[in-house]
Amino acid sequence: MASPEVDEVKARVNIVDLIGRYITLKPAGQRFKGRCPFHPDDTPSLMVSPDKGLWHCFGCNVGGDAIGFLMRIERLSFPEALARLAQEAGVELRGGEGKAKLYRASEEVAGYFARELIGPQGGKARDYLVGRGIGKDLWQKYRLGYAPDGWDNLIRALGRMGLEVLRDLGLVVAGERGYYDRFRDRVMFTIHDDQGRPVAFAGRSFSGEPKYLNVPNTPLFTKGTLLYGLDSAKDAIRRRARVVLVEGYTDVISFQTAGIEETVGSMGTALTEAQARLMARYTDRVVIAYDRDAAGESSTLRGLAILRGAGLRVEVATLPPGEDPDTLVRRHGVDAAHAVMAEARPFHRFFLESLAERHDLATIEGKEAALAEAKGFWSEVKKSLPLEHELVHGLADLLSLPEEEVRAFLRGRGRSIPRTTEHGARLGPEELVLHFLIAGKLPDKAIADLEIQDFRPEYRPIVEKWWELRRAGGTPTAAGLAGELDPEHVGHLTRLALLELSFSDEDRAMEDALVRFVYLPRLSRRMDEVRARLKAAEAAGEGEEVRRLNMQFQALCQERLRLLRRR
Ligand code: GTP
Ligand code: MN
Repeated sequence: MASPEVDEVKARVNIVDLIGRYITLKPAGQRFKGRCPFHPDDTPSLMVSPDKGLWHCFGCNVGGDAIGFLMRIERLSFPEALARLAQEAGVELRGGEGKAKLYRASEEVAGYFARELIGPQGGKARDYLVGRGIGKDLWQKYRLGYAPDGWDNLIRALGRMGLEVLRDLGLVVAGERGYYDRFRDRVMFTIHDDQGRPVAFAGRSFSGEPKYLNVPNTPLFTKGTLLYGLDSAKDAIRRRARVVLVEGYTDVISFQTAGIEETVGSMGTALTEAQARLMARYTDRVVIAYDRDAAGESSTLRGLAILRGAGLRVEVATLPPGEDPDTLVRRHGVDAAHAVMAEARPFHRFFLESLAERHDLATIEGKEAALAEAKGFWSEVKKSLPLEHELVHGLADLLSLPEEEVRAFLRGRGRSIPRTTEHGARLGPEELVLHFLIAGKLPDKAIADLEIQDFRPEYRPIVEKWWELRRAGGTPTAAGLAGELDPEHVGHLTRLALLELSFSDEDRAMEDALVRFVYLPRLSRRMDEVRARLKAAEAAGEGEEVRRLNMQFQALCQERLRLLRRR
């Protein structure tokens, strides 16, 4: 949360002292090292950087600032952790009365966005929602809204409540020339807590990036602690003795409206323990309905372990390829959605079937690949004996191998947690570019050349936030970014920020990373295009065009040589 109070607490807290209360830290260069308390750690993998005010575990890829450490280790919400540290550091925070004021303000904001949706400027948003099958009748139930285009609509409409209030709710951002609206020309989703109070907002763009924009952590909202739609789902969850877990806002609305009222949304990011415990308050059974790609991802496998850890039984519903819950309902109908849910299977069976689908188990290579994947999953299941047994049994059956061999392989050497390197040599150019960006070392020219699509999806929120802070006129720092991102992205951020790299020639290393990550791939794509057009022109016998394209191709080859030589 970009509030002066938070910045002051972070500045006053000694992060080494704080973390040093829980683990033994030893100096290592400019940083401190210790055994990570968040995973079984035989080599000290957790690094603390007092000058950056950040920590990161290179074993399990989690990290953050001082507040984030306290939240994780004491299982506190953001305001709880902030309050504790503030007290220690002697920083005065607004009391409970301030919070009541924020709840009231949040209500007013939800009302404002709702009025804009039905007002004269809301036409585009109304058309958009109706076009997606979210009719008028649903707008009030979900408190949907519209944030009009412009920099200060909200400020002008509700500024009388006080700019600090809007700032504390994360709705306005401090720029060089004062505050401006965070949400501009977006369809607004109101996020409620489990008691139905509006506490946060997300805005969907009509076209641009990022697709969804969220408020940062605020006194009312801690990322990763709420489930979208829980307030309207909780009666159905108790009644039907299960909760259906989807990723997106629109998925929740479509499923609930289709009669699967026990649906809640994780809001896109990796599931957290707090969310799992929240579900466990209402039921002991969860059905995951992610789209197919997401269901097989390692973050989903980790999510499974988290759900099991909270005492939940986990099943998976298999969506048709290419569909998410929302499109399933829209394109295939309500009955199809119910049918898919009725066919949900226990997670380990889903996992085995997906192995069989994705690998050719008749070949040695296919079997090896399947076993390797199962091994990645192993550390998550071995906490449960029956599940371990089922998995070994199922794998043995699937691969026509003796159970003992399968078990020996899964228990064998090799790490279950993928390790991320600390050494530049084994890092890709993408990571290096991000490292230099976060460190504030990339030249403006290079920054201007970056495009969001160049980056892997898990890194994009970091770059987007960086740009957002930069557009606001600030100089984005790693610590500043850490307060604005979701926990899983903070893990990537702190890893990239705390990499300790030594180069004989840093500028050259930076140039090299940019060439390999940005310029060469882009050039290759252009060469492919020209080559394809050349082929077509040759086939069509267009002599003039062939000559022109040939020259263009030669020029690109020269350009490529020049880039390669510069490295
Ligand atoms: P629609 O295109 O509106 O149907 O969204 P979706 O829910 O199908 O999108 P997607 O599957 O891409 O993402 C699922 C959820 O992830 C969203 O509902 C959001 O909660 C979250 N999400 C997606 N894109 C972004 C993004 O760019 N930034 C952030 N912060 N969250 C996102
Ligand atoms: Mn969707």
